[in-house]
Order: sequence, then C-alpha cells, then structure tokens
Amino acid sequence: MRPDPLPGEDGPDRALRPRRLEEFIGQAEARANLRVFIESARQRGEAMDHVLFHGPPGLGKTTLARIVARELGVNFRMTSGPVLVRAGDMAAILTNLEPRDVLFIDEIHRLNPAVEEVLYPALEDFNLDLVIGAGPAARTVRIELQPFTLVGATTRMGLLTTPLRDRFGIPIRLQFYSADELHEIVVRGARLLGVTADAASTREIAARARGTPRIAGRLLRRVVDFALVEGDGRLTRELADGALSRLGVDHLGLDGADRRYLTLMAENYGGGPVGVETLSAALSESRDSIEEVIEPFLLQQGLIARTPRGRILTQNGWGYLGLPAPAHIDQSELFESQGKTPPAGGFRGKVKILPHDSEHQRQS
Ligand SMILES: Nc1ncnc2c1ncn2[C@@H]1O[C@H](COP(=O)(O)OP(=O)(O)O)[C@@H](O)[C@H]1O
Ligand SMILES: [Mg+2]
Repeated sequence: MRPDPLPGEDGPDRALRPRRLEEFIGQAEARANLRVFIESARQRGEAMDHVLFHGPPGLGKTTLARIVARELGVNFRMTSGPVLVRAGDMAAILTNLEPRDVLFIDEIHRLNPAVEEVLYPALEDFNLDLVIGAGPAARTVRIELQPFTLVGATTRMGLLTTPLRDRFGIPIRLQFYSADELHEIVVRGARLLGVTADAASTREIAARARGTPRIAGRLLRRVVDFALVEGDGRLTRELADGALSRLGVDHLGLDGADRRYLTLMAENYGGGPVGVETLSAALSESRDSIEEVIEPFLLQQGLIARTPRGRILTQNGWGYLGLPAPAHIDQSELFESQGKTPPAGGFRGKVKILPHDSEHQRQS
C-alpha cells in the first residue's frame, strides 16, 4: 500500500526544512535527548525506541521525524492516522518495513481502534497477529516483523488512548519557539531563498510568527513577494512591517482568527467562562482547529486561561483588546498560578486553573 502524500508535504515548506539535527534550530532539550538516543541505537545496531512528538501544528514534528530516520541511516516510511482505514492497511505497511526503519504516523490520535489494536503487539515485540478467514474457519496467524521505530506525531496528546501512549519509550513535547530562535530560522530561510534582508526586517518577521517556524516561513515568503513587487527586492523593517500589517498579522503575531476569538469572548461573553463548543459555533470554526491551532498560542501568551467551566479572558487578554477587565471574575488563583500578584482590588467568584492537557481527556 502506498499511503497518500499528506497535505503540505510537497508544498513550499519543503525547501526550508532542515535535514540534519545540526541544522534544526531551537527545541534544545529535545534535540540533545534525541542525539543521545540516536547515537545509542546506532552503537547497539538496534532499532531506536518508539518516539512520540506532540505539540501544536508547525513546530517541527514531521521535520524531526525525517531527521531521526536520516540520522539513524534508515528508510523513512510515512502515513497518517486517518489514512489507515482497516487493520489490513496497517499490516501491509508493517510487513514491508526493513530492519530498523522509521515508520512515521502523523495524526496518530486519529487511528481507527481496529488499526490501533494491530499496532500494540507490533510495538511491543515486533509481532503481527492476523485473523485469517471468518466464522468457524477463522484462525490467527502470527507474523514476525523486522524491528522498527514508530515515530508518532499528534497535536492532541489528550486524545491518545492510554495503551498507545504507554508504548512510546520517548515522548517529546515541542514548545513554541523564542523570538531569538525564530530569528535564526528566518535568517536561514532568507539565505535559502536567496534574498537580502537586514536584521531589523528578519527580527520583525520573527517577532510576528506566533512562536511557530511554519508561520515564520510563510510570513517570510509573503514579505519577499511585497519586496519584489513593491520594493527593490530587499527586505527592510519598514517593508516587513507594512507587508505584515496588510496581511492582518499584528505586533504580537495574532491574526484575524485570533482577534475574532478574543473579541467574541469579550463582547459576547463578558470574558467567559465560555465552553469550547459555544465558541466553535459562534466562530464557525471546528472545535479541533480552535483547540489545536488558535488556543495553544493564546494560552502561551497568557491572553486566555482554561478553567473547569470554560475559557476565560485574562487580564492580559482584556489589556490586549484595550478594554478594562470586568470585576466579576476572581482571577487571584490564576495570578498565583502564573507567579504574578493578583490585581489590587481583586474580583469576586472562583476560578481554578487546570493543568495543561487535562481538559482534553476525551477518551471515548
Ligand atoms: N527548528 C526548525 N528550524 C527551521 N525550520 C523549521 C524548524 N522546525 C520547523 N521548521 C519549518 O517549519 C515547517 C513546518 O514544520 P513541520 O515539521 O511540518 O511541523 P509539524 O509537523 O509539527 O506541523 C517545516 O517545513 C520547516 O520548514
Ligand atoms: Mg506535520
């Protein structure tokens, strides 16, 4: 079986994708650990333990999966959760792996349960249990697989079943990138695209990339477009600023979807708490895209917070919108949990902050 190429895999991202661990910028801790595990597997001549990358889209999960295969010197096989419909699809891929290959499954939280079940013994001891035939004639055959490394990627750790999650020896959470790291990424990108850019312009793009390399690459390309058509091809801060503003990307890196979210919270729900389903209906955005794409960065920036009763706009969130925070929410616990002092005067009511992924334990 030939898994369909994934959207984005052959897109413009490709040219900017780092190919070696050396070239990969940021995620220092993840990189240092991976280096050890890769080197150890190479020395032992064994398949590396299974790896799970999790974190918001565009932070480098697919890139790192490819790098792992390359550094291990093995084949990279790629598929994704929704593509594998029947147990046989999974079996076909597994039986075609060569020793120590990397099998990458993107969106692994979307595996069909029947497919996932095939994976368990394969991950545990490289065996495949297949049921052949049906009714009284049905029997189970066990096929020995080549040892391999599964690399899974997910934007929704909370949606992974516990048995699957437990089978990954190396779970790695990717973080949003710092402005300095993104700056390095933009400078590298400009070099690869062959454009002349001054440091102020690349700083500007980095600062507005929402902590995300994929967005940094996209913004860089758009600024280059403006530079070619409306300038002399060189990137300056003024040009970058003008182009990004015209694209609706503000100084924090928030775009139209982010602002609609925050404005809705403030204007229609008094800053919350609001449930995600309500927000999803009001914004006409899928629940997934709200939870995977919009919210992680707003949470990281401290503009919103999660409580047991829904999302709330924080003091920072109100400040971002240039509006005074209403006095009906007690944000004191929130401020304590963020290591900040509660605002003088205080608020009424109670707000409890949840640990990051706990609200997502939608295991059905
Ligand atoms: N650390 C990095 N340094 C440079 N570019 C990066 C880095 N991480 C990601 N990128 C760029 O961002 C794009 C998106 O990364 P990708 O691995 O597809 O993200 P994810 O799989 O997490 O959604 C890649 O094509 C690559 O160009
Ligand atoms: Mg990806």
